[in-house]
Amino acid sequence: MELEKEDIQGLMVRGHGNLTSARFLLYNCTKPDATCDFLKEITPLITHAEEKPEDEAIHIAFTYDGLAFLNLPEPVLNSFCREFKDGMSAEQRRSVLGDIGENDPENWIWGHDSIHFLLMVYAKDQVQLDKSMLRIKEQTDRCGIQLIHTLPTGLLQHQKEHFGFRDDISRPVIRELLKEAPPKDSTTFPAGEFIMGYKNLYDEYAPAPYVPHELDKNGLLPFHPDYPERKDLGKNGTYLIFRQMQQNVHSFWNYMKEQTDEKAAAIKLASKMVGRWPDGSPLALCPMQPDPTLSESNNFGFWDDDQAGLKCPMGAHIRRTNPRDHLVTEKSKIDSSEMAAKHQMLRKGRPYGPPVTPELDPNDIMDSSEDEQERGLHFIAMVTDIRRQFEFVQNNWVSFHKFGGLENDADPIIGNHYQTEHYRTNEFSEPNYPIRKKYTNLPNFTLIKGGAYFFFPGIKALQYISSHD
Ligand code: HEM
Repeated sequence: MELEKEDIQGLMVRGHGNLTSARFLLYNCTKPDATCDFLKEITPLITHAEEKPEDEAIHIAFTYDGLAFLNLPEPVLNSFCREFKDGMSAEQRRSVLGDIGENDPENWIWGHDSIHFLLMVYAKDQVQLDKSMLRIKEQTDRCGIQLIHTLPTGLLQHQKEHFGFRDDISRPVIRELLKEAPPKDSTTFPAGEFIMGYKNLYDEYAPAPYVPHELDKNGLLPFHPDYPERKDLGKNGTYLIFRQMQQNVHSFWNYMKEQTDEKAAAIKLASKMVGRWPDGSPLALCPMQPDPTLSESNNFGFWDDDQAGLKCPMGAHIRRTNPRDHLVTEKSKIDSSEMAAKHQMLRKGRPYGPPVTPELDPNDIMDSSEDEQERGLHFIAMVTDIRRQFEFVQNNWVSFHKFGGLENDADPIIGNHYQTEHYRTNEFSEPNYPIRKKYTNLPNFTLIKGGAYFFFPGIKALQYISSHD
């Protein structure tokens, strides 16, 4: 089925890498009617997937609290999935996500309190961003909408994240977006994994919110193909996962230095924890040293050559978040790949805060002196099934201390590292010959500072939200 690109918000198909300045704005509404007026005004400015913006792009997403505040009818609110209705900071979600101790929502800057909607503003430069922000401020002020938090972002050199590793290399490819047949080895995914209203890997329409057809009084929404009595509110939308993750860069590199005797060994240890070298080349293909010709390589697995994790440790960030063809719970390469495919996400995150050094070369980062600056990643992911995709990865792969036959290891980069009376999650095991190496007492290299689950609607759904009665 062809994608209805004019109805899909453009962030789903591009990351706006050319729009280098961006801000994420979190709002609360005070008057439902005035908010609907604002939404009607902003809808024509929302960037859709057919556009290739060169100056500015704007996207919008709502929390459950926001949709409830706008008085969406009860059956419509009820049709959203449970995780979205709970909200990321709810008690049930906290335990699934492992947000306890230092990462408890009580310690967050935002997300434990009510947020109604998120505006994502991308611009070609700071001047354009300031202009866009002024216009939005005038509109929101006029409609009694309160800005609760402004989250700045800043792209880093060489597509890196703050620890100094190249990011955004492995991206699931949406089959329906390809103009020609994909290369033989590449993995592609049906749109329904990431965009509602299309078939997913189970050959089913992704579960989505709906409007009983008699409540779509203006006839804005398409009928659901499987349920003639429902109008498809989810069509061309998705769920957007947002987690503000502070990165403790000096603590990360200090740990690597303390465990090793020279810089090269510290970089190797950090790379073992990530699963790629700082330049992006995957340890599975070049375990001894980085290979710049492989820095964008994504065509590899672990089953054939690295079942023991001697090249890329089982607990490495990229092996946990996407085990590819080698999940120890599966009997074959194919079973494993099929299993991993069911837990993919479209990642759209942006870093925030100043880099420790401009080039983010780990050698320089290790020489730099500590500062008090806050920096990190606004982790953003899009999925049609919060439970099966994001929460599964976070719970079963990132946080589980016995993942892949390990014992006391959560994800070394993003895991919540702690110790209780009964178990601990603060170790990293590096398979090695003749005996494995174990690193203990890992502090938290990242901390959650805020987060929420959002509904990222299609354009027609946005029109329904702003004009329902
Ligand atoms: C501050 C937080 C984070 C940092 C610094 C970070 C860093 C990285 C880096 C350097 C890569 C390798 C580049 C690539 O393969 O594209 C990567 C890949 C990845 N990360 Fe993260 N990440 C963070 C948070 C998360 C979170 C919260 C999740 C999901 C729960 C996640 C899921 C993934 C996935 C799915 C991949 C691709 C794995 C693959 O397909 O090989 N990351 N991350």
